Amino acid sequence: MTDTPAPRPIEDAIRARRSIRGLEGPPLPPEQVEALVLLACTAPAPHHTQPWRFVEVSPERRSALATAMGEAWRADLDRDGVPVAQQDRALARSRRQVEGAPTLLLGCLVADGLRVYQDDRRARAEWGLAQHSFGAALQNILLAAASRGLGAFWISAPLYAQDAVRSALDLDEAWQPQAFVALGHPSADYRPFDRPEPDLGVHFTRR
Ligand SMILES: Cc1cc2nc3c(=O)[nH]c(=O)nc-3n(C[C@H](O)[C@H](O)[C@H](O)COP(=O)(O)O)c2cc1C
Repeated sequence: MTDTPAPRPIEDAIRARRSIRGLEGPPLPPEQVEALVLLACTAPAPHHTQPWRFVEVSPERRSALATAMGEAWRADLDRDGVPVAQQDRALARSRRQVEGAPTLLLGCLVADGLRVYQDDRRARAEWGLAQHSFGAALQNILLAAASRGLGAFWISAPLYAQDAVRSALDLDEAWQPQAFVALGHPSADYRPFDRPEPDLGVHFTRR
């Protein structure tokens, strides 16, 4: 019989991480942002590539960025037939998140080093590999932020407004915006949403 190894501290950090949407305080110091980005860039990636690109978005660029993203989003909501008052609320909330984050990091992907397939099935799978890696990179940031006592949450809006984000931030055409991470100090009164206990009966099976 082998002994079961004791749980390691990293497992506590994984369990303790939460999406903290109530953020306050000054922007993170530049060295801290750079340290988090370097940790993101230790994520596993397909074919030994390094497909992640990060942008720290300065407060000065945020209003134009929120406007450009809002226009793109409104066009989608119009097509969906969403009432204007509801659109206004959604856009205002998104603007508050973009403008209000003490530090706002944009994560992008590039296709450098990915295999090129002529058929759609494999081309989509290959891009899926890069997206898996992006998720791993962002999780590194979220975990590292939590372990430093910072609050952070993922904002997926850039994925739905890639052209608007690229043009508002003058990014290279090859950079494909995926998500923001908002970072700052957790507000004392913020309580994360309830997180259901994972149920192995749902999430796991053996064959
Ligand atoms: C791909 C992805 C997109 C997400 N997009 C958003 C988002 O746009 N806004 C937001 O507040 N949280 C977003 N989240 C965070 C989830 O809502 C959050 O992880 C989930 O509610 C579980 O809460 P926890 O992170 O505290 O465990 C996103 C998470 C992932 C993985």
